[in-house]
Amino acid sequence: MPDIGYLNDRFTPLEEIAISPDDRGFLFGDGIYEVIRTYHHVPAFWEEHYCRLLRSAQEVRIPFPIKSADFHRLLLTGLEQSGYPEGKIYIQLTRGVAPREHGFPVNAEPTVFLSFREMKALPIEFPHNGVKVITLPDIRWDRCDIKSLNLLPNVLAKQQAQEVSAFEAIFVRNGLVIEGATSNIFLVKDGQLRTPERNHFVLAGVTQQQIISLAQENGLPVQFERISPEALYQADEVFLVGTTIEVLPVVKVDEQVINNGVPGPVTSSLQGYFTNVLAHL
Ligand SMILES: Cc1ncc(COP(=O)(O)O)c(C=O)c1O
Repeated sequence: MPDIGYLNDRFTPLEEIAISPDDRGFLFGDGIYEVIRTYHHVPAFWEEHYCRLLRSAQEVRIPFPIKSADFHRLLLTGLEQSGYPEGKIYIQLTRGVAPREHGFPVNAEPTVFLSFREMKALPIEFPHNGVKVITLPDIRWDRCDIKSLNLLPNVLAKQQAQEVSAFEAIFVRNGLVIEGATSNIFLVKDGQLRTPERNHFVLAGVTQQQIISLAQENGLPVQFERISPEALYQADEVFLVGTTIEVLPVVKVDEQVINNGVPGPVTSSLQGYFTNVLAHL
């Protein structure tokens, strides 16, 4: 089955896509993106991702030229052409192609690029046994609520984590836990779920919102809160959430072992509830 690309109104095999060297996404990171998982050919939570895409586009003042119904049709066409039941759709919108000047170009059309690839599953021991994370200073800008292409701090943080065999880097700003380089974070303390308060330092995660709803439906209280690294160290359970990782238990934060190094019962229940939702998309 082929990887499929879509650029400016055309679907082709992904390797045939050619992006202009003058594309502002390439030159400036002047754009935004989304990632959608597909399960048994169904794009999961596509409306939530579409809404966030529109919001990100609006915040950076790039018009998004595709209406909701047309966008959904595009996703289904790409999925059909690629044929992967378990897939990953990447969506990128940039301010378009123009000679390199910082100010907005006058006549450029936004670039819309999509790719449709097979989802490579995480090693099975990650969701089963849990992962290690490290905390790092958050050196990103203060509009992390926008899913912008400017991911250099995230790239550096993730690499730093991987170099010490950690799965994820957790950003800490002004003494507060914010989110992972590629994920949102929850802790469980005394039967209550907590996740960092929502503001412009953190991405409002689609998976995070699903998990909050599922927890509430199943009688687990959830609070948005200011969370210190110490609160993370002292948590009964910690877990990460995100589109490509789903719900991932954390069993070590820096040098602190969580829940004796095994995934906790609340995390395992939420993994079960979420898997059930995904099976019925
Ligand atoms: C910085 C950051 N935070 C949180 C998330 C999780 O968001 P979502 O569940 O919408 O994928 C991501 C996902 O890529 C991310 O990059």
